[in-house]
Amino acid sequence: MNSKIFAIANQKGGSCKTTTAVNVVAALTKMGVKTLLVDIDPQSHATLHYGISKKETRGCSIRDIIVPPNITNNERLLSWDEVLITTDEVDIIPCEEALAGANKQLPSELGYDRFLEEALYDAREHYGAIVIDCPPEVGVLTVMAFIASDRIIIPVEISAFALEGLTRLQKSAETIVKRKMNPDLRLSGILCARVDERRITDREIIKKLRQKYKDLLFDTRIPENVSVKEAQDTGGSIFVYSPESKGARAYWNFAEELIKREDLPVKVKNRR
Ligand SMILES: Nc1ncnc2c1ncn2[C@@H]1O[C@H](COP(=O)(O)OP(=O)(O)O)[C@@H](O)[C@H]1O
Ligand SMILES: [Mg+2]
Repeated sequence: MNSKIFAIANQKGGSCKTTTAVNVVAALTKMGVKTLLVDIDPQSHATLHYGISKKETRGCSIRDIIVPPNITNNERLLSWDEVLITTDEVDIIPCEEALAGANKQLPSELGYDRFLEEALYDAREHYGAIVIDCPPEVGVLTVMAFIASDRIIIPVEISAFALEGLTRLQKSAETIVKRKMNPDLRLSGILCARVDERRITDREIIKKLRQKYKDLLFDTRIPENVSVKEAQDTGGSIFVYSPESKGARAYWNFAEELIKREDLPVKVKNRR
């Protein structure tokens, strides 16, 4: 199976990483690409978006599959399918706040930067796409995601500071490739989000991005759309909350573009 792992990354907070991860996973799943959402942001916004509670997770999360256990406390490393939660819409490996401590704890472990790659190794057999929602920094966890991934998707919230930090993010990815930590890692593309086509400034920023990144800019643009924002409190994706909204249409188109661009395996055709 031509499965691919995607890291949704941008060190800027509020750049629509979580919104993109949550909705593209729902769209891909509906389109028949078996997809897994992996939340590695200690803020756990993707987990919260799907309304997943501690009761459901029984306190198990991504932490239990990537942070070495305290053996003296009789803990053991869990496997991805032991922490997997299946909602009506998606398969998700949830996150919890306690993962924040991993930033400090992990670097003292030998070979830690491959722990996420190793944890997801078997999951690749089961999914056509695995989408990792990264935290807003290029720290320990994002580097682990880059090492585990085939492709990076960078969403940018189109605003005056949208381009800031993009070069640094790309440099980090290039270092990982050059140092052969993951020689096959590539940028899938840059996704313009929260776009207001009526704003001249938005059009100018997109023009600059197009000049610099050319085909790496996805053709689909996600418009500023209040339904997209509202959906985050409803426990489901935009396709459940407001399937006819502009935001739903845009994320649907984006998922289609991604399937084509990355040749993702579609098993059963479904409708929105
Ligand atoms: N297309 C959109 N239209 C309106 N609001 C949006 C849109 N996309 C994201 N948002 C809002 O922007 C904020 C930041 O998005 P989020 O995905 O959480 O960013 P990140 O994960 O990069 O920090 C959230 O409040 C989200 O609801
Ligand atoms: Mg987020």
